[in-house]
Amino acid sequence: MAETTGEAAKGGPYFHKERIKCSPEEEAKLERQHFWRIIDAFRFYRVHVEEQVKRAERQFLSLPKRHQNMLPNVMSNLARISKCADHNQEVLQAIIHNSLHMFENIEYGEREDPRKARPSTTFDMDKLKSTIKQFVRDWSDVGRAERDSCYQPIIQEIQRLFPNDQYDVSKVSVLVPGAGLGRLAWEIARLGYTCQGNEWSFFMLFSSNFVLNRCENLNSLTLYPWIHQFSNNKKSTDQTRPITFPDINPQSLPLTSDFSMVAGDFVEVYSDPESWDCVATCFFIDTAHNVIEYVETIWKILKPGGVWINLGPLLYHFENMANELSVELSYEDIRTAIVNFGFQFEMEKESVQTTYTENNHSMLRYVYDCVFFVARKPADLYFNGQEEEDEEEDEEEDDDQLQSFPSAAKSPRREGTDSLT
Ligand SMILES: C[S@@+](CC[C@H](N)C(=O)[O-])C[C@H]1O[C@@H](n2cnc3c(N)ncnc32)[C@H](O)[C@@H]1O
Repeated sequence: MAETTGEAAKGGPYFHKERIKCSPEEEAKLERQHFWRIIDAFRFYRVHVEEQVKRAERQFLSLPKRHQNMLPNVMSNLARISKCADHNQEVLQAIIHNSLHMFENIEYGEREDPRKARPSTTFDMDKLKSTIKQFVRDWSDVGRAERDSCYQPIIQEIQRLFPNDQYDVSKVSVLVPGAGLGRLAWEIARLGYTCQGNEWSFFMLFSSNFVLNRCENLNSLTLYPWIHQFSNNKKSTDQTRPITFPDINPQSLPLTSDFSMVAGDFVEVYSDPESWDCVATCFFIDTAHNVIEYVETIWKILKPGGVWINLGPLLYHFENMANELSVELSYEDIRTAIVNFGFQFEMEKESVQTTYTENNHSMLRYVYDCVFFVARKPADLYFNGQEEEDEEEDEEEDDDQLQSFPSAAKSPRREGTDSLT
């Protein structure tokens, strides 16, 4: 473990944790362990749901017989949930079957004993259930309304800012950090823009790899995303209703399109300055330990004149997580920082109502009142003296500044809590 430098020491224990540096071997080992932990979570799903079903059965059977007799459908519904979980497990198996060698440049070795059953944590099971719901949002007919409210505003802004009658859109590069299952990035690529999605979580990466590369036939696959929700069901059958995917053939992109997905932490992967015409973030910036680090990265990687389009809430993923750095800033404060970096707001709406993986039959439904903005990195940055002035100031200050951009220390993978999103 690296020693805390004087500068880091000032930042306190969280700062220290963020900057822990492992040897490359140790890092590779941690990465391998994480990879297999997530594979194990996919494999353990069925057992986990079965435990929930068994518990529900036990609870029901502990009721007085006369009460049970008044509820003739409960046991059969639980049996149905069990069958749905079997089916979900088959899809999850197909996902991991296609994930073991999915990365072009990295292999994760073999399991010492692949038969060994490894129970997963509730935390990982919650992540997996969220991933299953993400299929609804991104790749099902049911998710269309949600996509229209979250992705369409971003897509329309891209088309307004880079219209195809004024630009060779294949030369306009768009980056979508925190791409989830990839639908937004895919839609942008479908319009002819060069688009790259970036995603960090193996849950999402395995699943997006599956849907983007292995699913061609429309609505050929079924998932039961709501079986884990035992509360707020109006009808018992609401819990076991299916969704099908994909609603569109993910491989139907025009041959000329340029679409890619890159795995890794946004801040670590994207360090080349002035590389992108547009960065589009949707429900992403609140995944940061330090959201200002995201703003700084976006500022750095945008070309002069490039735009950042953002839509989403501020449900900080690391809030209340022990030993995790989490700075929960208001939008007002983030906005101040965005302006201080030099961005110019060109469009801003502070109340765009959207949902996130909504169960539209549920008796409890969340609505996010999102901010939506377009902020531009000025094109004349190098001509109005601003950058040069900044550089002069930087020389006098410490190295943790805008211009120097020390690349973030590689840190072991950690998942944030995104139980709602
Ligand atoms: C709330 S989800 C939004 C997904 C997608 N943009 C959407 O709107 O459906 C946030 C995504 O960001 C990913 N993520 C979190 N931290 C990340 C990081 N440092 N680099 C890349 N992706 C990250 C999460 O794994 C998750 O898939």
